[in-house]
Amino acid sequence: MMRRLLISAALAVVLSACGPSAEQSASTQSAAEAPVAAPAAAPAAPAPNAEEIQAALAALPAPYNEGDYEAGRRVFAQCRSCHTIEAGAPNRVGPNLHGVFGREIGSLEGFNYSQAVQDADFVWDGAQLDHWLANPQSFLPGNRMAFAGVRNETQRRDLIAYLMVESAPAP
Ligand code: HEC
Repeated sequence: MMRRLLISAALAVVLSACGPSAEQSASTQSAAEAPVAAPAAAPAAPAPNAEEIQAALAALPAPYNEGDYEAGRRVFAQCRSCHTIEAGAPNRVGPNLHGVFGREIGSLEGFNYSQAVQDADFVWDGAQLDHWLANPQSFLPGNRMAFAGVRNETQRRDLIAYLMVESAPAP
């Protein structure tokens, strides 16, 4: 999000050099971006402090112990429209992801999974999630998660590290 703001700011500087009407369109654009960025910035639960996050990260299996929690949180903005991560939060289009690691795929009580997911048989861990997120459709054809995937390997590592920290049962 920071990068976005910087890009808008840079754009505004570039465009303002072209005269008042361009400047106006640049400010209109950043105003239009603000509501989109807002929900991701507001965590629903009290955020753990930086020390707790570092300790939780360091305890993760490799390579997730090298993950960037903040970067992962930003990638998770792509999932939030369909998934909650907080304990006890409701399902949306997709199931709540709290406690997903160590859970059998398609096993969250009360969520109506596709047949493809119901027929699959494995337990979620970092490696499985990495394959799923790289390309949900080729990983499990026929599943109902309408999401193209996260192509960037580092972004997936950071996202999974974030999910591992956030989806772990509260101490
Ligand atoms: C457009 C909505 C949508 C988006 C965006 C989305 N998902 Fe999903 N997700 C779903 C749906 C729907 C399912 C259930 C799929 C099925 O039953 O076939 C699902 C299933 C899952 C599951 C399996 C859960 C289980 O209980 O077995 C995981 C893990 C998951 N999503 C993670 C993610 C992550 C991480 C992201 C972001 C990178 C993401 N999803 C983005 C809709 C979405």
